[in-house]
Amino acid sequence: MENFTFWSPTKFVFGRDTEKQAGALAVEFGATKVMLVYGGGSAVRSGLLGRVRESLECRGIDCVELGGVKPNPADDLVYRGIDLARHEGVDMLVAVGGGSAIDTAKAIACGVPYEGDFWDFYCGKKVVEKALPVGVVLTIPAAGSEGSGNSVITRLDGLVKLSLRTESALRPRFAVMNPELTFTLPPYQTACGITDMMAHIFERYFTNTQACEVTDSVAEGLLRTIMTQGKKAYDKPCDYDARANVMWAGTLAHNGICGTGRREDWASHFMEHEISAVYGVAHGAGLAVVLPAWMQFVARRNPGKVAQFARNVMGVEPTPDLLADALNGITRLREFFRSIGMPATFGDMGIDSPDIDRLVEMLHLHKGNPIGGYERLSPADTHAIYTSML
Ligand code: NZQ
Ligand code: ZN
Repeated sequence: MENFTFWSPTKFVFGRDTEKQAGALAVEFGATKVMLVYGGGSAVRSGLLGRVRESLECRGIDCVELGGVKPNPADDLVYRGIDLARHEGVDMLVAVGGGSAIDTAKAIACGVPYEGDFWDFYCGKKVVEKALPVGVVLTIPAAGSEGSGNSVITRLDGLVKLSLRTESALRPRFAVMNPELTFTLPPYQTACGITDMMAHIFERYFTNTQACEVTDSVAEGLLRTIMTQGKKAYDKPCDYDARANVMWAGTLAHNGICGTGRREDWASHFMEHEISAVYGVAHGAGLAVVLPAWMQFVARRNPGKVAQFARNVMGVEPTPDLLADALNGITRLREFFRSIGMPATFGDMGIDSPDIDRLVEMLHLHKGNPIGGYERLSPADTHAIYTSML
């Protein structure tokens, strides 16, 4: 096990009716004027936005609203949000929604006190030193942004989707998590969320660092839980306990705990971000196609951890043949994704003739060469993986 620092300062308030505590939490973290950041309307239609606003105003907090965040959020709304926040003297951002609303709020939060272009942080030119505090009312368990220090934004000029990782500056101060708010999620979004949280664990589980048994156990337990409870939530959208388990698992998948003591991978995420940047597919759906293809490729070179996953998570009976066990586990993973309606190929995502040369070129331009930790992947390798997804 390697040395590590684990930093997860977010105050999580979990359970029924917890959105009513948003006002008290905002006061606790020093807000006087809040910008509410939300998406395309689900939070308005459900009445949630109104309830959160009321909870804030009851505590004497002024509110301004910034709606219209799109999935795979873009920089245009971030610039508008920065201008509005400065003009209105906002001192806290509260995102009501999922990864897209939260990541937009985080981008505005670091952009407001910075004199230059907020994109400097995303393209690696500058490190975030100051940011306004961010709070979250979560409506979709998926991206894990409620507990992460990360934010992913697409620059429309050139369709460049980049993730900013900070250790502490962009971790939300509080996250309100009411599983009942997720009852209205369409099955497709539920499934995308399940896939994304599994991917966040895979990116940390597939490592060559040895002797991380405690971290492996947390990761394997979470993966098994996400599959059983996720399938229940997919089949019965109003099953509170299934929704609650999935919601909390989504946070634990991405707040850093599954990476403690070891090197991480992230090749699958980098490969997926290129797809969702150009073709606009949901991040989780893209991952359902990338993950098994990536696993199959790396298992042929380095089957050990994939076989462990197959045996400990997918219930494959151990044999002396590591590769055979690994491939068996991948087949079962594909079956699971199919059972929750996730795509398996580019074609299933509606991308009939993907420009693989361009995906590979952009991937390595943005993320370097080679990429990945479990296996180091060259452009020829990533080209082969994308091609296997046709
Ligand atoms: O926009 P509205 O109308 O709210 O609809 C949303 C959206 O269409 C809908 N939705 C959310 N909650 C709902 C609901 N519909 C009905 N009932 C509810 N309760 O779901 C759709 C997807 O929302 P979005 O926020 O885009 O989903 P998600 O949380 O999956 O976020 C995806 C974004 O997060 C990034 C992804 O790349 C993508 O851009 N990620 C962010 C990470 C981070 N910050 O740490 C890590 C992840 O790996 C990921 O890359
Ligand atoms: Zn993800």
